[in-house]
Amino acid sequence: MNTTLYQPRRARVAAQIGPRGLAIVPTAPEQRRNRDADFPYRFDSYFHYLCGFAEPGAWLLITGTGKSILFCQPKDLEREIWDGYRLGPQAAPAELGVDEAYAMSELDTRLPALLDGCDSAWYPFATHSGLDLRIQSALQQLRDRVRYGAQCPGAQQDLCSVLDEMRLVKDAQEQDTMRRAGQISAGAHIRAMQTSARMLRDGQEVREYHLEAELLHEFRRHGAQSPAYTSIVAAGANACVLHYRADTALVRPGELVLIDAGCELDGYASDITRTFPANGTFTGPQRALYELVLASQQAAVDATRAGARFTDPHEASVRVLAQGMLDLGLLDKDKVGTVQDVIEKRAYFQFYMHRTGHWLGRDVHDCGAYTEPSELGQSSVRKDALTGQSIVDRPARILRPGMVLTIEPGIYVRPAPGVPEQFHHIGIRIEDDAIVTAQGCELISRGVPVEADAIEALMRD
Ligand code: GLY
Ligand code: MN
Ligand code: MN
Repeated sequence: MNTTLYQPRRARVAAQIGPRGLAIVPTAPEQRRNRDADFPYRFDSYFHYLCGFAEPGAWLLITGTGKSILFCQPKDLEREIWDGYRLGPQAAPAELGVDEAYAMSELDTRLPALLDGCDSAWYPFATHSGLDLRIQSALQQLRDRVRYGAQCPGAQQDLCSVLDEMRLVKDAQEQDTMRRAGQISAGAHIRAMQTSARMLRDGQEVREYHLEAELLHEFRRHGAQSPAYTSIVAAGANACVLHYRADTALVRPGELVLIDAGCELDGYASDITRTFPANGTFTGPQRALYELVLASQQAAVDATRAGARFTDPHEASVRVLAQGMLDLGLLDKDKVGTVQDVIEKRAYFQFYMHRTGHWLGRDVHDCGAYTEPSELGQSSVRKDALTGQSIVDRPARILRPGMVLTIEPGIYVRPAPGVPEQFHHIGIRIEDDAIVTAQGCELISRGVPVEADAIEALMRD
């Protein structure tokens, strides 16, 4: 393994927790699906970010003086016959570049000793069930020995505050992996679009799961380990259900299909949404709404650059969508007023009820503060126009090169009084993945086109 990726990250953690800190990071547990079957194993994102070790049953400890200590599953030939190869503590230092490694069974005796004399125990808060109890137990053992000179740490600190900031800005290697994940996912979207058009042309029955199967096939054949999240393949009106999954509904000519799907490659997510006509040709009303969402996405892309705020792309999208809702008659000018009124009263929320993006990285909704750390403490309170609830506004994060976020405006039209019937049941979202650069952003998911004409063209091929 290329350990040079991980050692500098561990060194940065050590520098931030101070010479008398101890950082404690478990990987994820295996999860039972039912009886003898487990869910596919996925390591913990923080743990893997720090050592690249993908086996379950492991903890990484980093001392404030920069020493890395791994606890992992011991070699066990009988278990390895059933479950597969284990690296084991003896081989771990050479393979992973950690300083020491021990069997997991030694953790509960070694942890109190490692905490002895530390001023702070650092671990990710509220991420691993039972972790705090396990650490309390180690502290308790240490406290029982203060009469003999043991020194118990006086503080416990949230390691997420350190790791989230580190993970928020992606290094060159991470960006490269995310570009490759974006390319694979883009290819999967093209495959699903073309399959839909071809099967319908051939008179075959198409269901949502047929298109999901194409996505999975394309992810795996390019080496992606899994989908980064449960794929959404929503035919027709199902697109208006934001958390819909790929199910059994028929994909009908004349309807749109919304696919929100991305692969996970080497621990990094991609997250792409495309909305396309099932048979390859947009109807007039579909195209009108599609062009509106696309224009709103372009406005958000234009607003994404280093120095801008995280909320700038959302505000840019909302402005375009709000104007379009008035122009297309989704909102009645006589009732809601000007575009500024639509924004202030949040009237657009009837058709656009989510944010325009989120951080993307090891987790599809990646870690990282959405408020600006250099402006902590600045806040104002206002009443929300729709709910009347008090909202605390804090300055939004200032974007920096290497941050990765999605840009994903949409429009979802459920029938309601006054809403033109031609738009009923249309749901459209367009989502791309962007790396922030000094001048703007790099869209790493555009291997699948977004322009309506380009989508129609590739579905004809
Ligand atoms: N696919 C999850 C999201 O777009 O946020
Ligand atoms: Mn997303
Ligand atoms: Mn998505």
